[in-house]
Amino acid sequence: MFASRTNWPMAVNELTRRVCERREQGLPLFDLTESNPTRCAFEYPSEAILAPFLSPENLRYEPSPRGAWSAREAIVRYYAEHGASVDPEHILLTASTSEAYAFLFRLLADPGDRLLVPRPSYPLFGFLADLNDVRLDTYRLIYHEGWQIDLESVQAALRPTTRALILVNPNNPTGSFVKRREWERLRVFCAEHHLAVISDEVFLDYTYVEDPERIGTLLRQEDGDVLRFALGGISKLLGLPQMKLAWIGVTGPTELAREALARLEVIGDTYLSVNTLVQQALPRWMTLREAIGRQIRERVRANRAYLRESVARTDGCRCLEAEGGWYAILQLLDARDEEAFALQLVEQEGVLVHPGYFFDFEEEGYLVLSLLPPPEVFQEGVRRILRRIGEER
Ligand SMILES: Cc1ncc(COP(=O)(O)O)c(C=O)c1O
Repeated sequence: MFASRTNWPMAVNELTRRVCERREQGLPLFDLTESNPTRCAFEYPSEAILAPFLSPENLRYEPSPRGAWSAREAIVRYYAEHGASVDPEHILLTASTSEAYAFLFRLLADPGDRLLVPRPSYPLFGFLADLNDVRLDTYRLIYHEGWQIDLESVQAALRPTTRALILVNPNNPTGSFVKRREWERLRVFCAEHHLAVISDEVFLDYTYVEDPERIGTLLRQEDGDVLRFALGGISKLLGLPQMKLAWIGVTGPTELAREALARLEVIGDTYLSVNTLVQQALPRWMTLREAIGRQIRERVRANRAYLRESVARTDGCRCLEAEGGWYAILQLLDARDEEAFALQLVEQEGVLVHPGYFFDFEEEGYLVLSLLPPPEVFQEGVRRILRRIGEER
């Protein structure tokens, strides 16, 4: 009856099962996987967010396959602040970054074609690939006092049917940015092998400290020889995942970019999935970037500082270096079964974290913590994790 592309293992995993049991029993849970900002006690300027919905403009339906011009202009102003001069014609709105990926996979790859993705990284890639009939090959991010792209592994993963390289800048969960020297080699590699580049920049504004070695948005890079797609969206930029608005920015060799945009426009026109209200609201919402983004940045930095200080006083684990994003990685220094440890944390300490395998870490022994929870939840969760690590030694 069903297509093999949806033949996923549906069994509920042990960690989820135990968390559900705990919740059913009414037991407390310090959820350090929470990365939905609307559940993390930030102060949203609610009137400013909701007021645009009352505009009578919203009662007119004027579909535009690339999205409302005023929304695209607001995005162009955002990129100007990042030093990129972008034509609104080169922006296409989507309902989410996930949808943007789907559009690009459909644009670039035939069934069975391949894409290069970083490892460890964002867990949704597998499903997005399945749903779009493409295959993934991974290249490695390696850690040595900081993360870097293993450029040899990018080359080794190349196959005749590889169509695009995906960069996540900064990456989730490693919080690492792509550096100029890395991009220089990747650009030459992609040009040589006719690969497009998809740069997921949803966390671009969440940095801990500045570093001129980072490439920033790929829409800024002047080198014209590679077709590039930059992805952004308000789920992270404005902490509004429920509003469902994201975008694709296109740049590269003139003819290729023109053709890509024309084809993307047909895909966009087929679905017209971005509703009028959010498109109309975007210019006003973009003026709230600082008010919302600052709270998230302060939370993430404060939680990270607490974690680092606490870990520095504990044997048995270390906090990996990161440059940005919403996550922290704890490495358990004794070889451990990370899943068994995560289960123990739920059962015995009432703390939920992601085991590293969720993000496809190559080795055992990593825990990933969201830095978004309110400080009282985060700090108690961290205290309990570190207590358990101490007791286990
Ligand atoms: C790296 C990365 N890209 C994209 C997304 C999804 O964004 P959206 O809500 O726009 O689909 C996430 C969500 O966590 C993410 O971590």
